[in-house]
Amino acid sequence: MASLQLFPNRPVILYPSLDARRSFHARACLGINVQPADSKKLSLKSNEVMEMEGKVMVGTYARTPLVLSNGKGCKLYDPEGREYLDCTSGIAVNSLGHGDPDWVRAVTQQAGVLTHVSNVYYSIPQVELARRLVDSSFADRVFFSNSGTEANEAAIKFARKFQKVSHPNERDYPTEFISFSNSFHGRTMGALALTSKEHYRLPFEPVMPGVTFLEYGNIQEARDLILKGKIAAVFVEPIQGEGGIYSATKEFLQSLRSTCDEAGALLVFDEVQCGLGRTGYLWAHEAYGVFPDIMTLAKPLAGGLPIGAVLVSERVAAAIKHGDHGSTFAGGPLVCNAAVTVLDKISQPCFLASVSKKGQYFKELLMQKLGGNSHVKEVRGLGLIIGIELDVSASPLVDACRSSGLLILTAGKGNVVRLVPPLIISEKELELAAEILFKCLPVLDKNN
Ligand SMILES: Cc1ncc(COP(=O)(O)O)c(C=O)c1O
Repeated sequence: MASLQLFPNRPVILYPSLDARRSFHARACLGINVQPADSKKLSLKSNEVMEMEGKVMVGTYARTPLVLSNGKGCKLYDPEGREYLDCTSGIAVNSLGHGDPDWVRAVTQQAGVLTHVSNVYYSIPQVELARRLVDSSFADRVFFSNSGTEANEAAIKFARKFQKVSHPNERDYPTEFISFSNSFHGRTMGALALTSKEHYRLPFEPVMPGVTFLEYGNIQEARDLILKGKIAAVFVEPIQGEGGIYSATKEFLQSLRSTCDEAGALLVFDEVQCGLGRTGYLWAHEAYGVFPDIMTLAKPLAGGLPIGAVLVSERVAAAIKHGDHGSTFAGGPLVCNAAVTVLDKISQPCFLASVSKKGQYFKELLMQKLGGNSHVKEVRGLGLIIGIELDVSASPLVDACRSSGLLILTAGKGNVVRLVPPLIISEKELELAAEILFKCLPVLDKNN
């Protein structure tokens, strides 16, 4: 059996090793007992993967030309065996690094027991995770989703429903939302409507109506609009990730809190990126001593498996009834068992203290090493979410660092280097990252 072609008129792209893989799969599907003769033969080289991606994937991602095939701790490897120090964590996801043994155990053990049951039934890991989230936060109840955008989508619905229930017999109850400059809340139609970057939003308009964008940090503007009485909820990231690593001030969050209380609006903290230990606090808002009515989480919660969570106070939960929202996959046993392990490890006081210490050390090191360069305007952030603002595009620096074995991200308008390493990174690895950044900085003079 050479190959199985379902669509004979479609041109076939032949990659020798892919052909071998297809042939193997085709025979396996037909129940012919085959063993791959040499498993190495079935793996693709980096250039083959990139070429194939360009032919078979929808072009939504302007990817970095790098294929990653395995990882351990804070190190990632491409198929050719080149090693990279990971200061991206899959965009602030892999807080325990790659292949954490406790996480692997939690996933493999649970996979052998029960992976998915839907929310028609109860399952133990889901309730265990929800209990831990409630015990460790302001929240009384939890709703699970599969991603950050879905968590925000649920928060939008919960805020609308809360206002509807709070204003019985009023046709004109508060349904609008406030979001801020440089905010990022996701890509689905509701969360997208709350996302400030027009580049993401405009091609898909009309998105959800009723969103006003205000300047992040502008207390008076927010106060004036909230007090008009039309706002269902204010969405804010205590520390903006995608937007450029901007931290809110305590006064700003305090004012949002008191004004929302005055007007009956809800305060939603989007901690999808900055939450769960990244700042050195379990929840970023703990650094401010200001608490929300709703908090959305996602990225690091299940250590790399897809999950989102909406944490709410009792009065918000009370407005939500059976059937108001739901998801087939969300909060499944596998993903929740992984998340229980992640949360248990990260919420240890000594773990959080180590993030604070390493974050402070890294920031000081970066200021010391890079601060003298004329392109570096500011080094900012809290814990291990750090931004280096440049007066030029950060892309050449990202490319040069990659060539030197360091993976970093951009943020903001492309002029901010975003450093979000696994929270388990060692001081030695942070020193190496700072050294590579320092050595690569001159590339900014050549390219700009
Ligand atoms: C603050 C914030 N909210 C929401 C999202 C959307 O999360 P997801 O990509 O999981 O949908 C992101 C993603 O970067 C984010 O940083």
